[in-house]
Amino acid sequence: MALLLKSDATRLTLWYDAFHAQAPELEVRTYPELGRREDIEYALLWQPPPGLLATLPNLKVVFSVGAGIDHLLRDPELPRHLPLVRMVEDGLTAGMSEYVVMSVLLHHRFMIDYRLQQQAGKWEEIQQIAADQRTVAVLGMGEMGQDALKKLGVFGFKRLGWSRTPKELPGVECFHGAEGLKALLPRAEILVCLLPLTDGTRGLLNADLFSRLPRGAALINAGRGGHQDETALLAALDSGQLSGASLDVYQQEPGAAGGPLWKHPRIIATPHVAAMTMAPTAVASVVANIRRFEAGQPMQNVVDLSRQY
Ligand code: NAP
Ligand code: GLV
Repeated sequence: MALLLKSDATRLTLWYDAFHAQAPELEVRTYPELGRREDIEYALLWQPPPGLLATLPNLKVVFSVGAGIDHLLRDPELPRHLPLVRMVEDGLTAGMSEYVVMSVLLHHRFMIDYRLQQQAGKWEEIQQIAADQRTVAVLGMGEMGQDALKKLGVFGFKRLGWSRTPKELPGVECFHGAEGLKALLPRAEILVCLLPLTDGTRGLLNADLFSRLPRGAALINAGRGGHQDETALLAALDSGQLSGASLDVYQQEPGAAGGPLWKHPRIIATPHVAAMTMAPTAVASVVANIRRFEAGQPMQNVVDLSRQY
């Protein structure tokens, strides 16, 4: 039984060691060393080259290294009859909540303004706002969104959440659908995007959406670059409609580095690292699913391809 692994090169050893410790019976082959393609029954991949999966005749299950599966759906030859399992593991969720809490606090406490003051040699106080007077809205109330919303609750922020279907989460005012978004946006002083990239969410963070936010709102996008209209985002920052943005994802990755978003004084840019899949906990999740599959039991976190997430 062989599993094909494609992750970024710097983390291959971590994955390899975790599989060796938790499932020594599994032969792990690391892309591009495929060996005999007929032996590969499972694949755990991040951004595989289009067409690769279709060349594996005995593949049984496709696992995504990431929570998002848009990188797999881009493959026109994706074997859509096979189960596709997205990554849900505690390390990834915890990492995202750290990023969201860090970024929300940074905008809440005017750190972009203070950093600009520091660079200009200025000393000026900005009136602090109590957390319970600040509204944070999270787009996407899945694994990532719900955990981030819970952890933001510790600070006492007013919390709003938006999803496709109705949700309930203690202490969070929940909205869904197009009408829900319209109602949420005028209240969202700090807007966090944790949505998957689908036909329903692509380009959502656009000029119209920015114009509906309170003036001076901040944007945090750790969903996907495909959610944001980057020209509109720069215009909203330059006009003061947005006071700042924390971006982890871009239309062009890694092409955004060195471009206008990267250089903008009111953007805090990170290179798609808001949350990293942690090999030990991720391998536990993949191995548990392989064992379920081998035992003829239903796997967890199987993607509904008709929803695209
Ligand atoms: P998830 O559990 O599948 O949750 C997705 C959420 O988005 C759900 O609440 C869903 O609504 C909502 N949603 C989907 N389509 C929508 C629409 N058209 N309108 C309104 N809400 C919609 O996904 P997750 O595990 O939280 O991950 C979310 C995304 O985070 C991933 O897909 C990936 O793009 C991104 N991510 C980024 C990083 C990074 O490092 N930057 C790391 C991990 C994940 P329902 O609840 O109604 O289904
Ligand atoms: C990372 O972007 C992920 O989808 O997990």
